[in-house]
Amino acid sequence: MPKEKKKMKSESKKITRYSYNEVKEPRTPETGHTALLPNDELEVTLPMDNGWSNAIEVGKLPEGDERPVVVDMDPSADPVLFWAGKRNKRVVPVLPLQRNEIVTDSRIAQIIERARKAVAEKEPQARQGSLFADLEKTLRETDRSKRVEFYTHEEGWKNKLICGDSMQVMGSLLYYENLRGKVQMIYFDPPYGIKYDSNFQQRVDSADNDDEHGAEDILTIKAFRDTWLLGVHSYLSYLTERLYLCRDLLADTGSIFLQISEVNLHLVRCLMDEVFGRENHVATIAFRRTGTSTRELMEVVTDYLLWYCRDIERIKYRSLFIPRDRRLDGIGRVMLESPDGSQIRPMSDLEANGGVPSGWRVFVTQPLTSQHPSETRNFDYEFQGYKFVPSEGRQWATSKEGIDRLVALGRVVVDGKTLRYKYYPFEDFPLIPLTSVWLDTPLGGFRREKLFAVQTPTKVIERCLLMTTDPGDVAFDLTGGSGTTGYCAEKLGRRWITCDTSRVAINVARQRLLEAIFEHYITRNGTLSSGFVYKTVNRVTVKSLAFDLEPEKIDLVDQPEVDKDAIRVCGPFEVMTLGRYSLQDWKGYLVGESASHYGEPAKLENYIEVICRLYRKDASIQGAAGLVHAVAETEKEKIAISVGPLSGRVTCKQISDAVQDAVASGILEVHVLGWAFEANVGEVKSHLEKSGKVKVELIMIRPDTLAEGLKATKPEMLFSPFALPDIEVTVEEIDKENRACVTLNGVALFDRNRRTTEYKTADSGYVSAWYLDEDYDGDCFVDCQMFFDFKKAPNLRAALKAEVDPAEYTLQLKSQIFPLRSYKRIAVKVVDVYGNESTVVKEVS
Ligand SMILES: C[S@@+](CC[C@H](N)C(=O)[O-])C[C@H]1O[C@@H](n2cnc3c(N)ncnc32)[C@H](O)[C@@H]1O
Repeated sequence: MPKEKKKMKSESKKITRYSYNEVKEPRTPETGHTALLPNDELEVTLPMDNGWSNAIEVGKLPEGDERPVVVDMDPSADPVLFWAGKRNKRVVPVLPLQRNEIVTDSRIAQIIERARKAVAEKEPQARQGSLFADLEKTLRETDRSKRVEFYTHEEGWKNKLICGDSMQVMGSLLYYENLRGKVQMIYFDPPYGIKYDSNFQQRVDSADNDDEHGAEDILTIKAFRDTWLLGVHSYLSYLTERLYLCRDLLADTGSIFLQISEVNLHLVRCLMDEVFGRENHVATIAFRRTGTSTRELMEVVTDYLLWYCRDIERIKYRSLFIPRDRRLDGIGRVMLESPDGSQIRPMSDLEANGGVPSGWRVFVTQPLTSQHPSETRNFDYEFQGYKFVPSEGRQWATSKEGIDRLVALGRVVVDGKTLRYKYYPFEDFPLIPLTSVWLDTPLGGFRREKLFAVQTPTKVIERCLLMTTDPGDVAFDLTGGSGTTGYCAEKLGRRWITCDTSRVAINVARQRLLEAIFEHYITRNGTLSSGFVYKTVNRVTVKSLAFDLEPEKIDLVDQPEVDKDAIRVCGPFEVMTLGRYSLQDWKGYLVGESASHYGEPAKLENYIEVICRLYRKDASIQGAAGLVHAVAETEKEKIAISVGPLSGRVTCKQISDAVQDAVASGILEVHVLGWAFEANVGEVKSHLEKSGKVKVELIMIRPDTLAEGLKATKPEMLFSPFALPDIEVTVEEIDKENRACVTLNGVALFDRNRRTTEYKTADSGYVSAWYLDEDYDGDCFVDCQMFFDFKKAPNLRAALKAEVDPAEYTLQLKSQIFPLRSYKRIAVKVVDVYGNESTVVKEVS
């Protein structure tokens, strides 16, 4: 019966994911554990000099200013670019990363499983737990004793989504994560350095960046983030420092692609020549960009990729091919041959535009000689009663027997005084190598699918990956945005690391990966490092015909063989942040208006002071020991301010102690500022507020507060309210097992302007996503269930042979029912539309 057949088909479709357990990497500390690392701050000197500083005479600037001034340059050295503030070295602190979250399952995979089960069992069943999250949890428990053996214990590789400044993230990858010389491809799509305000997206759920979308602090952060102290000079320093770090990460065979518009193309090209060496420039690729120019003069429709490699002699390069253009422009005089081979004539323009008569073959002639020196290929050859010799300095391309064979195949023609080879382009090899002009990058349709204001088309990054990496290689994107590099690498079975300072970007990327579906590419022997099985195409050449060989088989690396019985989803990845902030970054931090112009002396302040002053200009710093670090007092209010540590989270104890200290001094409002908070601070806050008359507010310090070189306009806006998720957990005994269900009711958040705590219901449009860890171990959040609106619901009908309930693609507020396990503790992470994350933990008995 056809119905049964359908069911069988749907059952046979498997869900697959690629993972890399066989590749080992050092274990990174988990949330809060970085404090266990040695306290000494590792510092390294970045050499930002490929010899230029030896080639110049350095003049003198005012006392203390060590920037070089060129008075003479050695003409044997490569010229370099100079700008205000160019340095030949820089000391930077190196900070460890920390893992906050493990994503083992994909939302789309769970939806597919549920839809399939519903078909098989006619009615939905209680969830048995997420297979992949369960596996991860079992692994974590068996490995528990080794969890603090950071960097000495190894574990299976996981792809990485990192929130943090690229400079510090790269330092960690080099010095802690052991990735020096191991990255095969780097994609770098920095702000273009034009208006400095065009690449900041305000909301997770919209790429529009309209004014109405902005929350006040977000707009100000935007101004802060993207305004550079010295304009293009700061921009060039920013790029150079990062490019030198990229060079250290690249494998000897690796490549880097920098995406830039024409405005700064020439400057950045100079920088890359300096960092990577002119000889390592591979190509400058022009690609068609989305949108059009607003200029009144000629419209500019291309952006550029500057492609450099670590070492041109060792570069890994895989050719890509595209179909041959019908017109065969640039290939020489194009001829037509009648079906029986008796007539030959040039192809007309009309015929070139698709009018070749049926059966006629298109060919061009090519030299039958080469410049390659050979003693045996310099002979007279007799053809149609005439003798032919290779012209001066050339020899025949093959032996006498070879030419005989070509003649027998009808592949030789007379052209003036020489013999030429007949090449049938559409038959011998119907493809041409991809060149450096990409006009086929999408324009129109792309807009509708856009997740991020400045998103790169996937076609561009896929090509870069395909040309320079093999399956299993590592790709890194230091300004990942919406995670296009991670997405493309995941699609193509490459390992990936992407980082971004913006929490909006990180959350857009996470959702994009969790809702992705890919084709499953068949590997040669089951592991990605063995490579894919590719479609091949025959290339008939002079050599293959002359020596009667099989035509050469060319792998089409962009066309791996697909397993039609599989749906592939995103493999496991981890979400990380910097585990510690550096005290170094606070040295010379510029505070206040007087310091905002170049040349004025910077005011040195310490960490606590800087944070308190940034939060409240009127804060008076408390010298005494204790956890109230500053007090802000006006006629209306008196607030105690307590600042969390640079490394690690604000603990419940710090909050209780700060409140105790404040109350002892008669202050009844306490603001605790931190980079991160322990998961159960919400409960402590309500407990303290219930048991006394005190009011406690928790405030997040935004991670990009430390970005160097950025102009601090309105720095007090660098804080965002910490939202406390309001959840309800119900437990029921089903089949002698305790099963729980979590409902997200809303979030409570502090409104800094009105200085009150506001409550937002979960369906008020404020929540962008929420995640549930069904058995939280207190160290690392493992995503077991995830909830958010799909940007675009996929049509799975054909693949699944079943309908998916459309409600599955929307933000649901009630979790699936799940069995309670050993920790009897759940955690819920809520992400608001501005990318702020907050977590609540609940013990469930
Ligand atoms: C042009 S966008 C990249 C877009 C990306 N190619 C995509 O397809 O979505 C540049 C990104 O760099 C990020 N960014 C800027 N400065 C950064 C820094 N110092 N470290 C890490 N990310 C940074 C911005 O937040 C922004 O998301």
